[in-house]
Amino acid sequence: MMSATARKKAPMPTDIRARKGGTPLVSLTAYTTPMAQMMDAHCDFVLVGDSVGMVLHGLPSTLEVTMDMMIMHGRAVARGLSAAMMVIDMPFGSYEESPEQAFASAARLMRETGAGAVKLEGGRHMAPTIEFLVHRGIPVMAHIGLTPQSINTLGGYTVQGRGPQAEAIMADARAIAAAGAFAVVLEKVTQTLADRVTSEVDIPTIGIGASVGCDGQILVVDDMLGLFTAFKAKFVRRYAHLGEAGEAAIAAYADDVRMRRFPGPEHVFADEAPAKGSAR
Ligand code: KIV
Repeated sequence: MMSATARKKAPMPTDIRARKGGTPLVSLTAYTTPMAQMMDAHCDFVLVGDSVGMVLHGLPSTLEVTMDMMIMHGRAVARGLSAAMMVIDMPFGSYEESPEQAFASAARLMRETGAGAVKLEGGRHMAPTIEFLVHRGIPVMAHIGLTPQSINTLGGYTVQGRGPQAEAIMADARAIAAAGAFAVVLEKVTQTLADRVTSEVDIPTIGIGASVGCDGQILVVDDMLGLFTAFKAKFVRRYAHLGEAGEAAIAAYADDVRMRRFPGPEHVFADEAPAKGSAR
């Protein structure tokens, strides 16, 4: 964690937008205060992703995630951040119906969590909504390519942008940039397409399963720490194996309890109060 004196001011969406073509933007998802605290000094922005449904709640997809879940996790993450900007996902069903519905949901998410921006999924068809939100003070990060809230129409978690799909995704990227999005997440698209969007569209591209040439990268934190192991996408690099380490620690604790090796003498309390200054 950063010391109070070393603290920098969290960037604003306009600062993120200005990083186009510069040092790559660093981002991870977070859903809890301790995780947010761990990444605050290292990330430019932190996403309270609707992946929380699968990662922390054991749901089969992001479709069952609600506004109340996002707000509860958003408030927890906000308590752990001071240097990184917080972006929050708009959950499925909270914005697709109309720009007015999207505004009401986005305003509630920002007001009740302190997030600096919202993220929503969709390309050309969401451009009018993005424009409506941006004109009313809501900074929007777009998310195109594989959009997990649409797995039922996309036919699963498939690679996007191969063959004729590439032009459709290019058109999505141009439309959301023209509508005023300050950045765009490109998920699970071909590297060629990600590089093309990055060079032809003037807002930062944030890759997840896209290209090292993107203007930034994002991963689901539980994936890269090896905490979520139900499956591993090709685009995830595991930087730690905390799930395995955690299970080994729990097994050691269980053995110690069963063998009466825990608690040890240092964990129990004597009849006499310890002398002043003693740690016990
Ligand atoms: O919900 C999420 O975690 C996301 C990232 C995969 C970008 O949208």
